[in-house]
Amino acid sequence: MSHIVLDHPLVQHKLSFLRDRKTSGSQFRQLVEELGLLLAVEATRDLPTEPVAIETPLERTQARRLLPLDPVLVPVLRAGLGLVKPFLQLLPTAKVGHLGLYRDHNTLVPVPYYRNFPPILEERRVFVLDPMLATGGSASEAVRQLKAAGAVNITLASLLAAPEGIQRVIYDHPELRVVVATVDRCLNERGYILPGLGDAGDRMFGTT
Ligand code: PRP
Ligand code: URA
Repeated sequence: MSHIVLDHPLVQHKLSFLRDRKTSGSQFRQLVEELGLLLAVEATRDLPTEPVAIETPLERTQARRLLPLDPVLVPVLRAGLGLVKPFLQLLPTAKVGHLGLYRDHNTLVPVPYYRNFPPILEERRVFVLDPMLATGGSASEAVRQLKAAGAVNITLASLLAAPEGIQRVIYDHPELRVVVATVDRCLNERGYILPGLGDAGDRMFGTT
């Protein structure tokens, strides 16, 4: 499966502020939320619905509603936390799992440190949330762990992606749906996305 890139002037506008080094921490978090809403709309495009009979004030009609089995959101800590609120705004009954991974600074290999997934994963749509898809190591490891826990239908939602990261996750998990706000030029020698926005977790939580 290939990947989907959001193509929208609001995304370009908001990304220009998100990338800017002068953007404050609170503005950064606000922009991640706003971009997260736009990302959530596209990431949920193929959620299954079923017909329901409803009554408007004027007449009886058929409408469609999401299937009752709630989806699962899995933010990759830390930066993925910034995408939970906008996804929950649109999917208020979703279950939320958490996966703690950090990249080893020398090897760039993701190191797992926390995991808490809700049950019955195999029956639910699962959304992996991580604003940054750089080498793809963290996203690939997140999807691997979710598949091992039984998840079948997984979508990765990211804001900035490097071409290398997209290639890696699609190679490792060909069935994965990948939705990104934009694709940047490349990675630098330290595995950072160029032009990028720097370290998303540090900017979000003020740890630089
Ligand atoms: C960042 C980011 C992704 C990962 C992407 O997390 O939030 O999880 O790097 O890089 P990759 O595609 O090369 O794996 P980081 O390891 O910096 O942890 P943090 O969010 O706690 O700062
Ligand atoms: N993680 C980040 O936060 N930023 C990058 O550019 C790469 C990985």
